[in-house]
Amino acid sequence: MVNEEVLRIVAEAGMRLSAEAAQMLDKMDDATSVVRKLAEGEKDEFIITAGLLHKYAERERPAEETKIPLPVEVYRSPDFKPEAAEHESDLLIESASEVVADTPRPGTLDNFVEYFNDRFRRTRSILHSRPGENSIQSIASVMGMVKGSKARVAGIVNGKHITKNGNLLIDIEDDTGPAKVLVTNRDSNHALFADANCLVLDEVVGFDCSVSAPFLFANTLLWPDVPIRNPKMSERDLSIAFLSDVHVASRHFLEPQFKSMLQWLNGDGKTPREREMAGRIKYLVMSGDLVDGIGIYPSQERELVVKDIYEQYRLFGKFMEDVPDYIEIVLAPGNHDAVRRAEPQPAFSEDIQKEINGPSRGNMHFTTSPSTMMIEGLRVISYHGTSLDSMIASMPGMSYSQPEKPMTELLKRRNLSPIYGENPIVPEKKDFMVIGEVPDILVMGHIHKNGYTNYHGTSVINAGTWQDRTDFQRQQGHMPSPCIMPIFNTRYARLDLVNFREGT
Ligand SMILES: [Fe+2]
Repeated sequence: MVNEEVLRIVAEAGMRLSAEAAQMLDKMDDATSVVRKLAEGEKDEFIITAGLLHKYAERERPAEETKIPLPVEVYRSPDFKPEAAEHESDLLIESASEVVADTPRPGTLDNFVEYFNDRFRRTRSILHSRPGENSIQSIASVMGMVKGSKARVAGIVNGKHITKNGNLLIDIEDDTGPAKVLVTNRDSNHALFADANCLVLDEVVGFDCSVSAPFLFANTLLWPDVPIRNPKMSERDLSIAFLSDVHVASRHFLEPQFKSMLQWLNGDGKTPREREMAGRIKYLVMSGDLVDGIGIYPSQERELVVKDIYEQYRLFGKFMEDVPDYIEIVLAPGNHDAVRRAEPQPAFSEDIQKEINGPSRGNMHFTTSPSTMMIEGLRVISYHGTSLDSMIASMPGMSYSQPEKPMTELLKRRNLSPIYGENPIVPEKKDFMVIGEVPDILVMGHIHKNGYTNYHGTSVINAGTWQDRTDFQRQQGHMPSPCIMPIFNTRYARLDLVNFREGT
């Protein structure tokens, strides 16, 4: 609800609030002063629109001093004897070599056909392993079957509609043709209907169905999914720390807390348990948005304390110099980073790598997004998570406050970005977003909110952010969870969280 003082100012000015502007005001801390200035400055306006409000909200923001982060002074505690320093690393990055070119593949029809064919074939082969009375048959052959026949089909979802009787009609297509799958809204069909209602466009899904041309009546919906298994554990008692969305060079980058984290990695934890935990960290995996970038959104320069992209990465590299040298650092890009925006995102170019890794340390690895790596024998998929926006918007029951839910839905679909076109994807010959081998850990960032779950034996981790709440997030009512570092112990498949926000 907009506060009464705001309503009074608006009424006295003879103005009205648009519904969108009212929603924005409801979430603004300084709504009263913004509206007062607006009412004084826009005497000819009758309606306060969201655009007008945004203009004044920008002007009202206090001119904060732009403090450029200083080089970090981190020291190794003299009595810190890290266990991880005693072990050779066991890290193999698998996918880095596959997406090498930072040159877009043209979006010709042939390229799109090739891309979707690859997605369909690989996902269907996963669906083939699902048990059932019938194996998957082509849509063309099933549509020719006599009425009442039972069959299993798989296809890409092209459409989802509610009929006038309240049933769901799903358009699917395989390489032999299209089909209309009807999911009835009977009471006995409640679970199936709810599942089908969660289908998103362009995902590959299977149905056990009864043939009744021109429809197929769905009896069961099959997601490719990941099998239920026990979490995999390594022999060695070592850990992986996860970071994401550091956004160095943003004026909201939480530099003191980030420095505390670096100090903590160097054995500065308050308790013996914390120091022991830090000492077991052998890997540091970062899932994108290392820096805030430039030109990512309109008037971003107002949010930056460093406006030169190379300088941003140089500064990030300075922070990385204080990560202990026995820790392997894996760096992947996100949508704020200086690589192509379209996914899969290639690894950083050599000139950016040079800025980050000035002294050229051997413990720094640059990879793609998404990227698959084997760490201590565990399969880890790191992906920035740009598709989470479209998953949250497309599915019932999803929100920005629980990133593990849409992440789980991606696992279920065995695709990191099923909805084509919502976030740019290059139609490569191979759909790099298909989750081929089942991961033991799936880690993402992007939405600046930590989240965790275990789904069928896969640890699902969102690594959060090191950027404070931005004005845009404030307007959207989104509350990030900065400075919480998840640490995964590979020996016991145990996740610990260290919160650097408190007490700093
Ligand atoms: Fe981010």
